[in-house]
Amino acid sequence: MTDFSRRVEQVSISGIREVFEAASEDAINLGLGQPDFPTPDHARQAAVEAIQAGEADGYTSNKGTRELRAAISAKHARDNDLEVDPEDVIATAGGSEALHIALEAHVDAGEEVIFPDPGFVSYDALTRLAGGTPNPVRLREDLTLDPETVEEAITDDTAAFVVNSPANPTGAVQSPADMREFARIADEHDVLCITDEVYEHIVFEGEHRSPLEFSEEGNVVLINACSKTYSMTGWRLGWVTGPTDRIERMLRVHQYVQACASAPAQYAAEAALSGPQDAVEEMVAAFERRRDVLLDGLDDMGLTYPTPKGAFYAMPRVPDGWVEEVLARGVVVVPGDAFGQHGDGYARISYATGIEQLKEAIEIMDAATRAVR
Ligand SMILES: Cc1ncc(COP(=O)(O)O)c(C=O)c1O
Repeated sequence: MTDFSRRVEQVSISGIREVFEAASEDAINLGLGQPDFPTPDHARQAAVEAIQAGEADGYTSNKGTRELRAAISAKHARDNDLEVDPEDVIATAGGSEALHIALEAHVDAGEEVIFPDPGFVSYDALTRLAGGTPNPVRLREDLTLDPETVEEAITDDTAAFVVNSPANPTGAVQSPADMREFARIADEHDVLCITDEVYEHIVFEGEHRSPLEFSEEGNVVLINACSKTYSMTGWRLGWVTGPTDRIERMLRVHQYVQACASAPAQYAAEAALSGPQDAVEEMVAAFERRRDVLLDGLDDMGLTYPTPKGAFYAMPRVPDGWVEEVLARGVVVVPGDAFGQHGDGYARISYATGIEQLKEAIEIMDAATRAVR
């Protein structure tokens, strides 16, 4: 017997990390979940100025500075046509902490949380850490989450379900009709819908809509972050918004585990959200060009895939031994089963890397494909 908590014993270090550790140092890394662009200069500058003026030395309000929360509210009006009261926003240490406090505040011991499989690795782990029971559900052929599957999975013990669009690891984008359905399901079954929208802006085909727009009964909380949109993964700045009573419960958790998001990062985020958005457009255009190069390459290899419409991942079906062969030849990709059992037989390829490196990696993957066939 050890003295470790049962909750923590159920969670292991992410399978993605293991792949990185198995790779050689000069491998081309198509395993990463972060944009390879610099943070916009005006965001960096705002943090530098706040630091130099001595404005970022102390704690901020638990929820974050009023100016940042006003900028988040203005962002939701601009991008989502959503009216968000700045009082109903908590700035967090990335989208990760926002997910954590949402689950902590809403899941009782033994209650179930439904989420996509394959899906982002944190949904399973954070559910377990909250004492809940993961209920991963299979996706459609095109790797989107079917609202009907979610509705069928709901039991008396369901506390929440997670929607993630655009999605990691699939690159899938849910239709507006699906998002409306998720809101209806949350309302009708009185179950919380946690919508993870951290890839909101990285959409090439289709349209991003939020279930929060369609929610009538206060059963949707929205998670977002500066991490992917502004290439600010290292700054650790995200947020959660939703109905006042839910925000108040999440604040109880945030207050004790975090106190407040990093003050310098709050200044950078405020500038990123309210400043010029052309860096986002340029980044998205670059991602789309890379996606097309990668998909052409996969076609030449004879690999099939549901066309990824957003984020910066593709998820082709791959033959047995493919991931290991690719890794051995010096390209890091992540096996699909790192994201859930239904990810078996797929690989996640991130194209958050320069186009020349991507082309080089495609040649290597092509040779690996021929070797395993
Ligand atoms: C779907 C999804 N949600 C949330 C996060 C967490 O992002 P952050 O870096 O803001 O904590 C990630 C990061 O990879 C992600 O892919």
